[in-house]
Amino acid sequence: MLYGDMTDDSIQNQIDALRKQIHYHERKYFIEDQPEISDQEYDRLMKQLEHLETAYPQLVTPDSPTQRIGGETVLGTSVLHRERMLSLDNTYSPEELYDFDQRVRRALPDQPVTYVTELKIDGLGVALLYENGRLIRGATRGDGEYGEDVTLNLRTIRAIPLKLASIQPIPTVLEARGEVFIPRNRLDEVNRQRIAEGQAPFANARNAAAGSVRLLDSTITASRPLDIFIYTLGYAEGIEITKHTEALALLTDLGFRMNPYTEIHSSIEDVIAYCHQWTADRETIPYDTDGIVVKVNSLRQQEMLGTTAKSPRWAIACKFPARQVTTQIEAIDVQVGRTGVLTPVAILSPVQLAGATITHATLHNEQELIRKDVRIGDIVMLERSGDVIPKITAVLTDQRKGTEKIFRLPDHCPVCKTSVQRSEDEAAIRCVNVVCPAQLKRRIEHFASRNALNIDGLGPVLVDQLVEVGLIHDVADLYSLKQADLVNLERMGEKSAENLINAIETSRRIPVAKVLFGLGIAHVGANVAELLIDHFSSIDDLAVADIEDIESIHGIGSQIAESILYFFSQPRAQKLLKRLKDAGLQWTAGLSELPGDSTSIFADKTFVLTGSLSTMTRSEASDKIKARGGQVSSSVSRNTDYVIAGESVGTKYDRAVELNIPILTEEAFTEKL
Ligand code: IVH
Repeated sequence: MLYGDMTDDSIQNQIDALRKQIHYHERKYFIEDQPEISDQEYDRLMKQLEHLETAYPQLVTPDSPTQRIGGETVLGTSVLHRERMLSLDNTYSPEELYDFDQRVRRALPDQPVTYVTELKIDGLGVALLYENGRLIRGATRGDGEYGEDVTLNLRTIRAIPLKLASIQPIPTVLEARGEVFIPRNRLDEVNRQRIAEGQAPFANARNAAAGSVRLLDSTITASRPLDIFIYTLGYAEGIEITKHTEALALLTDLGFRMNPYTEIHSSIEDVIAYCHQWTADRETIPYDTDGIVVKVNSLRQQEMLGTTAKSPRWAIACKFPARQVTTQIEAIDVQVGRTGVLTPVAILSPVQLAGATITHATLHNEQELIRKDVRIGDIVMLERSGDVIPKITAVLTDQRKGTEKIFRLPDHCPVCKTSVQRSEDEAAIRCVNVVCPAQLKRRIEHFASRNALNIDGLGPVLVDQLVEVGLIHDVADLYSLKQADLVNLERMGEKSAENLINAIETSRRIPVAKVLFGLGIAHVGANVAELLIDHFSSIDDLAVADIEDIESIHGIGSQIAESILYFFSQPRAQKLLKRLKDAGLQWTAGLSELPGDSTSIFADKTFVLTGSLSTMTRSEASDKIKARGGQVSSSVSRNTDYVIAGESVGTKYDRAVELNIPILTEEAFTEKL
């Protein structure tokens, strides 16, 4: 069979060459994020290999790139971790990090200590076991002692090498530990698939990653956008290393996917500054992290420090304030808004979320309540991401006890008891009583708010008081308030009374578009009010405009136009308007506001903000940029025109330096404004 052997030899060579190429490109694509060939080219190589392997099945090996998918996982098959997978102690404040540093230094008297920081990836911890360079087992962390065998599913993750790069000496047995995750922006895609499979969507990317690894059918796992970062060497035979950073370098050389944000620090102050920086910058990376892991770098020192029953004494997690927590709905309240709309509001068992104590969350409207099936007593997932308003993102229905109560909005206004109106087309249920005290209070609050008449100090508590003691019955009454009226109120001193009177006085100079917005006409937001004043110049001209005239404005449709017409047709509104005008509020656009003079100094310029500003919030800065024609982006690219750097800047700053993009200090920015 000399001839046949020769064929097999050359086929074997072809197969080897293809596997080597594919392996190389998989590494470029999945590990290093630097693909060198197109997806089609890669598919073509794969197809060629598949052809050869189908024709010569005896040449198929388990570490071939074609062998990632296939087979059913039997969940519950437990594996004993050769070395326990410990968890980490958590810290939430700099003081606790100082304490950690003190403990470390007491145990290592007179020794220099170097710390390594890594991102704490929020996914599922796994251990990958390699023998002679081949992946032979993958397991979840489980309880740390026993994990679950999920080899078949982990093999489908292309960032996990089936075969290690051949470095010398190659460790005979090696265990790599890391965190499997799903990038945040891929969660929607996974959830669509889940829903199509008839399953409830995952509440977050971590659950999605964990759920995808613990599936019975590895073909489904293969279709999920799973990725991994390796964070430590579990153990290795035939290797001598003395530092954690050496282990990370070794893992990199072996072809594992490592997180790029690893740093070395020589003091805990440095570590604290670094954690602080990441608290803001975590939003700029495309996967979820829940903190920074701090590790003593020297392996000899790690050994001297040892472990407690659960966690090492040489490492600690500095946790970011949670953006997602679970809590219970204790009750559902009904609030009446300024246009009479009834809004269900969840009263929550107080929880800490992203640095604030949360006790309430809006449930929006009755349809939403029904759609989400939120009940009193439910355990819910609460989230606070980019914006500050907490959102209920999921009901944990599997935690129901059967005692939860379904809630529906009442038939009567909870404040004035008038029958409510349910409209067919709108989701809203309204109290239609125009003198309902609840509506009045909310209208006054709106009138005084920052984007309207900006009356500093006139918040909800004071508004409630002023209405309840009968000092004001509408917004026009604000302008006849006297300091003497105020000082008798509870919790109101001379100084705050004077400040309030001054703030009311100042509001007489607020531009007319803001006054119009402050009137709280349904569907007339701040932008629409600007458009209307740009067109009509004064409230009086708008009041007598006909519907065609209003609708002719670009950006204003019939719903808004009708609402405006209705507002000005009411005798009550007309009386109120007269009193406001008589009080001296701006009624006509000032010269600086006439069209044509719009300040567009930032037209076509893209800004990125990093760090915190001292004279304004980031969202205020964004508003100012947009108001001047600019755009604000969340990440730095070659298209960025300016980066505005506040206090404790993050990686966006480094990127700006790298790309040579002009960096403005807060001062330089305000000067430009
Ligand atoms: S070190 C004994 N490093 O967090 C050292 N863990 O709460 C323990 N994790 O089970 C692990 N990113 O699943 C380490 N850079 C990182 C990590 C990390 C995420 C997870 C890991 C671990 C859990 C501990």
